[in-house]
Amino acid sequence: MIKIQVGDIIIGDEERQIINDIMDSHRLSEGPVTREFERLWANFIGTRFCVAVNSGTSALIAGIFALIYDNRFPKVRKGKKVITSPVTYIATSSAIALAGLEPVFVDIDPQTFTLNTSQIEQLLKDGNSDDYCMILPVHLMGYVNDMDEINRIASEHDLVVFEDAAQAHGSIYKGKKAGTMSLLADYSFYIAHNVQVGEMGAVVTSDKDLLKILKKVKANGRYCACAVCTRSKGICPFSDEDFDPRFTHEFIGFNFKINEFQAAIGIPQVKRIDDIISSRQKNVKYLNDKLAGLSSKLSLPEYSTDISYLAYPMIIKDKSIDRQKLMRDLESAGIETRPLFGCIPNQQPAFSYLKEQYSGKLPNADYVGLHAFYIGCHQYLSESDLDFIVKTLVEIVNA
Ligand SMILES: Cc1ncc(COP(=O)(O)O)c(C=O)c1O
Repeated sequence: MIKIQVGDIIIGDEERQIINDIMDSHRLSEGPVTREFERLWANFIGTRFCVAVNSGTSALIAGIFALIYDNRFPKVRKGKKVITSPVTYIATSSAIALAGLEPVFVDIDPQTFTLNTSQIEQLLKDGNSDDYCMILPVHLMGYVNDMDEINRIASEHDLVVFEDAAQAHGSIYKGKKAGTMSLLADYSFYIAHNVQVGEMGAVVTSDKDLLKILKKVKANGRYCACAVCTRSKGICPFSDEDFDPRFTHEFIGFNFKINEFQAAIGIPQVKRIDDIISSRQKNVKYLNDKLAGLSSKLSLPEYSTDISYLAYPMIIKDKSIDRQKLMRDLESAGIETRPLFGCIPNQQPAFSYLKEQYSGKLPNADYVGLHAFYIGCHQYLSESDLDFIVKTLVEIVNA
C-alpha cells in the first residue's frame, strides 16, 4: 500500500462550506467563486490579471493562441519556432505543436533542469532569428530559469517570452516571482502541485489587451469578454448592433472554462500557500540533511528558500543503480515515485519524428530523462514519514 504519495489533499471545512454554498446557488459553471480564485492567484503571483482554465495544458494552449490572435505579435504565426525545454511534462511541447508552431530544444542544466542560455544565443546566431517567435522556459520542479538572460536574448531578437510556471507556484528569482518576468505565464493545479484542485490551470498576465483575448480564446472565441455584460439576457449594454454577445464569436477558440467547485477547492489553499511552500522547503531540507550519505550515488535537490518545491527530485549518479528497479522497490515499500518525464525529442514516442535531428545533441536532457525520478515532499508529510523515506531509500540504495 502506498504510504507516501507524490502529492496529497485534505478537503477542509472552508472548502466544504464554499462547495455547499455553490450547490445552493444553482450555478455550477464559472462565476463569482472562479473570479475570486483568479483575484487571489493574480494577487499572490503579483500580476494584474489571472484567467482560470480547466488544466495547465489548456493554459499553455490558450496562451499561445492568444498570442497568435494578438496583432501586436505578428511573428507568432504558424510554422515559426519556439525555443523550449526538452525535459518537461509533455504538455509544453504538445501545446506548441498543436498550435502549428515548432518546438526547438536546447540542453538543460543537469541539476536545475533550466535552459542553457548560451545554447539559445548560439541557436539564434547560427540560424535565421526571424524563424523564431518565442522562448518558453519551463521552471521544472520549482527551479526558475535565468530569466534575466532569457529576457535579454529575447529582446535582442524580438521574441515573446512565455513562462511555463506550472510547477513553480511562488518560486522566486532575484526577488521576483516565477510568472511575473514575462508577458504571460501558465500554471497547473493538477495533483501534487502546491495548490491542487484535481484538474485546473491558469494564465497570468499584466497586459490588459492580452487578457481580453485570453478570455475569448477559453470561451470558444465568444465576442464578449467584459466583466459587466448582461450575459444572461444576451444584450450588450455598450452596443446598439443586433448581436448576442454570447453567440457571436470573434475567434475560433476552445471551451477551457472551469466549474465553480474547482475554484472552491483552490481558494483556501491559495490563502495558506506561504505555509504550504515553507513546509515543503522544510521537508526538502530535512531529507537533504538525512540523505547526505547517499550523495555519491544520488544527486539530491538543490536547497533554497527561493524554491517552491513541486516534489523531491533525485538523479542517479551511480550507473550501477537501475532506475526502474529502484523505483519499483520504493513503490513496493510504499513510496510513490515518478520518472522525470524523459527527454522529449529523444525519448518520447509522440515526438519521435524529431529523434534523428536531436540524437546526441542534448546529453544532459538525455541523462536526466533516463536517470532522474522524484518522490513527494508535500505539506502533509510528518517527521515520521520523512524518517521512513530516509530509512527506506538508504536501505534500497545501499542494498
Ligand atoms: C511543466 C508543466 N507544464 C504543463 C503542465 C500541464 O498541466 P495539466 O496537467 O494541468 O494539464 C504540467 C503538468 O503538471 C507541467 O508540469
